Parts: sequence; C-alpha cells; structure tokens
Amino acid sequence: TRTPLMAGNWKMNLNHLEAIAHVQKLAFALTDKDYDACEVAVLVPFTDLRSVQTLVDGDKLKIKYGAQDISAHDSGAYTGEISGLMLSKLKCSYVAVGHSERRQYHAEDDEVCNAKVKAAFKHGVTPILCVGEGLDIRKAGQQVEYTLAQLDGGLKDVPAEQAESIVIAYEPVWAIGTGEVATPEDAQEVCGAIRGRLAELYSQELADKVRIQYGGSVKSGNVAAIMAQPDVDGALVGGAALDADEFVKIVRFRD
Ligand code: 13P
Repeated sequence: TRTPLMAGNWKMNLNHLEAIAHVQKLAFALTDKDYDACEVAVLVPFTDLRSVQTLVDGDKLKIKYGAQDISAHDSGAYTGEISGLMLSKLKCSYVAVGHSERRQYHAEDDEVCNAKVKAAFKHGVTPILCVGEGLDIRKAGQQVEYTLAQLDGGLKDVPAEQAESIVIAYEPVWAIGTGEVATPEDAQEVCGAIRGRLAELYSQELADKVRIQYGGSVKSGNVAAIMAQPDVDGALVGGAALDADEFVKIVRFRD
C-alpha cells in the first residue's frame, strides 16, 4: 500500500520570513496521526530553503520540503541555476521536475526534464515528475497518449532502482489555477494509464510502488473524491497550499 503524498507547491509565493511563519503554522496544526496517514511536503522557492531546513532540523519536524526546479548540471558556469548537490546539502526530500509552468515559460521539453530527473536521483533528491495535457489536447481526446509520451520522455534510461521511488504528478494544464478541477473520473483515467505504462516500462511490482499525484485546483472540498480513486496517491496543491489551515484540511482529506 502506498502512503499518500500531500504536497504544497508554493510557486513564486512566500518570502523566507513568510515561509517560516507558514511552516510553523503547519507544524503547530499537524499531529502524529496526520503524519502516520500521509507524507506532507512543501515545495518552496529556492530563497526559502535554508530557512525551512533550519526550522525543520531544529525542531525535528516531520514535514518534508523540497524545491520547484533543479539544474541538469552539478556545478559550473550556469548562471542562475541551482544544482542537485545544493539541494541535497539542504536535505531536500523532493524536487518538482517539468512543472507545466516550467515547460510553458522556460521551454523545458521532455529531454530537459529527463536530464533533471537523472540529476535529482544522482544527488538523492526524489523527483516529482509533472505531466499533463493542455485544453486543446483534452478537447481532442488525446490526454492519455499525450501524457504518456511525457512520461516516457521523462523516464528515458532511468533504471528501475531509481524509477521505483519517483513520484508522478498528473496535472492537466487546463485545471491549474483555473478553479476548473478535473472530475475524479478524469483524474483516474490518466493516473491509471500512467500506472499501466510504468508496468510496461518496468514491471507491475514497480508500478504498484510508485505514487501518482493529481494536481489542479485541489481544495479541501474536492480532495476526498479525487483521493478515493484507486490510482491517485496524493495531491500537488498550488493556490490552496498558501493557506495553512486549508492545506491542513487537505492533508486530513479522510476526515
Ligand atoms: P493550483 O492548485 O493553484 O491549481 O495549482 C496546481 C499546481 O500547479 C500544483 O503544482
């Protein structure tokens, strides 16, 4: 059985002081019961990582944290980039790779995402590979083929020993930040297909281990129905994760 991963993607929100206050609020609210039921993580801006690490380490918090992007390179003349070495030094558990906003605004293609997935594994940071179709693809009924092609590209030449710990986030672009949440059936259709492809690429045993999240306008009011789907193992939450009380309600989706 897969432990659900409930992760907040803060995107470009919350400076390091706000980050500390926010994580303190989460830590105050979350109990051992919550951490037994789910893994809880926040993906924060690079400038927040050190502050969050200091807080989590100092207070021995069970909340996990990570970054929203990673360089494909380890070090060197790559102005503005942050490497997996740097993220692992800050004890990041996770890093988002290929979020649709990176693909859209920074022209990240599957080849770049594949290099970033490999860079994350190389440094012991678990990648959360984000995949999902835009509205035109959805309207054409091509969401499964399109999303599986992104999955194939992101996982190219990634060995099973690494792939078994990856997290896949299915985030239909038309549902991100729009209030337009996919129906639970929409989410299950693609998440189920992702697990099927993992079984083809690797093995059923591996596919059964991998956590597949849904992301796109997740809120406390819709999370339970989505999490009830057999192939949905967590949520990647944008806007609603910026409100600590709301995010805690999302973590408690079973209540
Ligand atoms: P929203 O929850 O704001 O729709 O964002 C989803 C997302 O992109 C998480 O990575």
